[in-house]
Amino acid sequence: KDEPTFYELVGGEPTFRKLVARFYEGVADDTLLRPLYPEEDLGPATERLTLFLMQYWGGPNTYSATRGHPRLRMRHAPFRVGPEERDAWLRHMRDAVDSLDLPADQERTLWEYLERAAYFMVNTMDGP
Ligand code: HEM
Repeated sequence: KDEPTFYELVGGEPTFRKLVARFYEGVADDTLLRPLYPEEDLGPATERLTLFLMQYWGGPNTYSATRGHPRLRMRHAPFRVGPEERDAWLRHMRDAVDSLDLPADQERTLWEYLERAAYFMVNTMDGP
């Protein structure tokens, strides 16, 4: 039998649903990040990030089936992502990752990816 994917190891879909729901609870109250989201309802954005992360870690490919190739830097180009936005994003994500109570090695794997991805998404160095 094949090795389990990281997606399976951390608990599959419920784990990613919990992670991203918790993350967006933080974004909803964030005066820097909330205005970046074009939609009144954060539900669709929650769904897109959940499906993306599930796919990235070896789960179902529903993200690409519905949204196409991720091209995440291009998709973030319309939004101002400077160092402050990146750090705010990571603060909410840190809180969300902590809420999962994963084993230390899984926690580190997930966090190192999220931190790297957030640094990669920065598209301006101008101050706020
Ligand atoms: C979409 C902000 C980092 C994954 C979005 C949207 C905003 C946003 C405003 C549009 C809402 C939507 O249509 O879903 C930010 C900010 C970041 C950041 C301020 C700070 C660094 C990241 C990172 C990832 C990510 C690190 C992946 C690990 C996504 C995905 C979408 C998205 C998958 C939906 C793309 C689509 O299918 O249209 N982000 N983002 N974002 N973001 Fe981010």
